[in-house]
Amino acid sequence: MLQINDLTFDAWGRRFFEKATVSLPPGAKVGLIGRNGVGKSTLFKLILGHLVAAGDEISLPRNARIGSVDQEHPATPVSLLDTVLEADEERHGLLTRLETADPEEMGEIWGRLIEIDSDSAPSRASEILAGLGFSQDDLQRPMSEFSGGWRMRVALAAALFAEPDMLLLDEPTNYLDLEGALWLEARLKKYPHTALIVSHDRELLNNSCTHMLHLAGGKLELYTGGYDDFEKRRAEKARLQLSAKAKQDAERAHLQAFVDRFKAKASKAAQAQSRMKRLAKMEPVATTIEERVAPFTLPSPPKPLAPPLIRLEKADVGYEAGRAILKNLNLRMDLDDRIGLLGVNGAGKSTFAKMIAGALDIQKGELHRDKKMKVGWFHQHQIEAMDPNDTPLEIVRRAMPEASESSRRSRLAQWGLNFDKQDTTVGNLSGGERARLLLNLVAMDAPHVLILDEPTNHLDIDSRRALLDALNDYEGAVLLITHDRSLMELVADRLWLAADGKVVPFDGDMDDYAKFVLERAKQAVKPTQVAREPAKAPASAPAPKKVAVEPLRRKVEAAEQVMNRKTRDLAELEAQLADPQLYVKTPAKVPELEKRRDNAKAKLDEAEAAWMELAEQLADAEG
Ligand SMILES: Nc1ncnc2c1ncn2[C@@H]1O[C@H](COP(=O)(O)OP(=O)(O)OP(=O)(O)O)[C@@H](O)[C@H]1O
Ligand SMILES: [Mg+2]
Repeated sequence: MLQINDLTFDAWGRRFFEKATVSLPPGAKVGLIGRNGVGKSTLFKLILGHLVAAGDEISLPRNARIGSVDQEHPATPVSLLDTVLEADEERHGLLTRLETADPEEMGEIWGRLIEIDSDSAPSRASEILAGLGFSQDDLQRPMSEFSGGWRMRVALAAALFAEPDMLLLDEPTNYLDLEGALWLEARLKKYPHTALIVSHDRELLNNSCTHMLHLAGGKLELYTGGYDDFEKRRAEKARLQLSAKAKQDAERAHLQAFVDRFKAKASKAAQAQSRMKRLAKMEPVATTIEERVAPFTLPSPPKPLAPPLIRLEKADVGYEAGRAILKNLNLRMDLDDRIGLLGVNGAGKSTFAKMIAGALDIQKGELHRDKKMKVGWFHQHQIEAMDPNDTPLEIVRRAMPEASESSRRSRLAQWGLNFDKQDTTVGNLSGGERARLLLNLVAMDAPHVLILDEPTNHLDIDSRRALLDALNDYEGAVLLITHDRSLMELVADRLWLAADGKVVPFDGDMDDYAKFVLERAKQAVKPTQVAREPAKAPASAPAPKKVAVEPLRRKVEAAEQVMNRKTRDLAELEAQLADPQLYVKTPAKVPELEKRRDNAKAKLDEAEAAWMELAEQLADAEG
């Protein structure tokens, strides 16, 4: 389908592609993967012709239609449904022509309209819009009534509806909630033509894609299978390369020894010569060990505060008097809490986060929060609100007014923004680079509570892992909102669910939640929609049960990390209790500490039991 031949491309003082060659099979669903800033979005621009390479290195079959989703979508007075319908240019053109056509022309137009099943277009379009979270009532509302994020969803719906021969999607799950992401996964899997999807979302890459296209070191490499397969193959390749390299190093040493010994001896000079030539000709074995991504710096709060950090009693919160978004909240948060907040877009998750951050007052009830409590709050609007003409260095200059210029620069480098990026304007940074900058900035003051509202949007998979590691070392409380299922599983010990004007603890894990949302979506199916998922296999003929090993392995990993954290908590409390000074200076604190120690011990036992059970399941699944 798409053919890239010997593509070399330089821009902004850097080489992005060097003789990259790849051919995408027709109908393939290809995940385009690679580090933040490596040039994935740049490749899209090249394919779309917004940037131009030297010549005809990129080619598509003649008349192939390319479709993509623009970053900006105008707030027009056109209704959502019409916006999507108009994306099918042929149908739209035929309908427009029909208005002024001669009678003899009409027959032909009608014929073609029937051929492309024009009558069913509105129901096909509304099915897509419903899948992406729009209600039946929304369909007739104008685009201008929706926020930028929701307009992006309409643009995505339009691209899917138009069904181009080559669909290009750049991080489509960034503006979706978990429910929308699950729907998109299923939809892309069934997409009738070729699709190239930039994504850092492991689930989407595993569940929807047939191939991975890896961009690194200026080269494009195609692998069959999903992301987990890709990772395994890469690891295997690296292992083989290492052993080939070891072999070659040994041979080289051997040749060199021969040359060194005999080059002075006339009788052996010819042999030494030929070995020297062989040495010079030896191509070094390439090793693909990638650079590590820069870690995230999340400094822990210096002094713990007395528990609880936050306590809500019968609290209402909202923006307008008399119209609470969330009602009767009864919750508490402690310093060792890792809370995952679930709920569809619009359920009030961000409102809740805003209140915890202290940026929104409650309307009723009680909110207790320690006055000394510092909060770090990361959310998507911060990225959108950045001035495109600002630079990372300017931003850090404002955040560290006292510091010297060189320490500001080294701080940025520590965050993974190297010298050449420090003066690049925000508008020209890649999505991942912007997110990395803000995340580090938000945590800079060692907050007691870190609120992360979709922190992984734009971050590449290795950076997500780096963020996870940093979160595990961070000692404050975490409130996490994310549609990244694996991150949620690995970070959250407790889940809360925002729904129907409430936030309450959710009883279950992420798999239960995924089931819960799909079930609810099914129940909400409207008459215009057709069934999205094949019916479950009948109970009489059960399919052989296959336990997926990979998700299980991740769960074991998550449980292990929880266990480590609990072990650390316990050790810390025991250390405090072992300090003789405690009993002399502040004996009154002892009972409280003992209570916390017992509590921590119970939690550790629980975590150990959970880990054991999962580890056994994994051992079984692996056979
Ligand atoms: N006009 C520009 N001037 C300077 N640098 C630029 C400009 N446009 C892009 N860049 C740089 O080019 C690099 C590649 O950007 P691109 O958006 O293609 O990355 P990406 O692979 O899509 O990354 P991400 O995963 O973060 O979206 C980035 O480091 C970016 O800072
Ligand atoms: Mg990009």
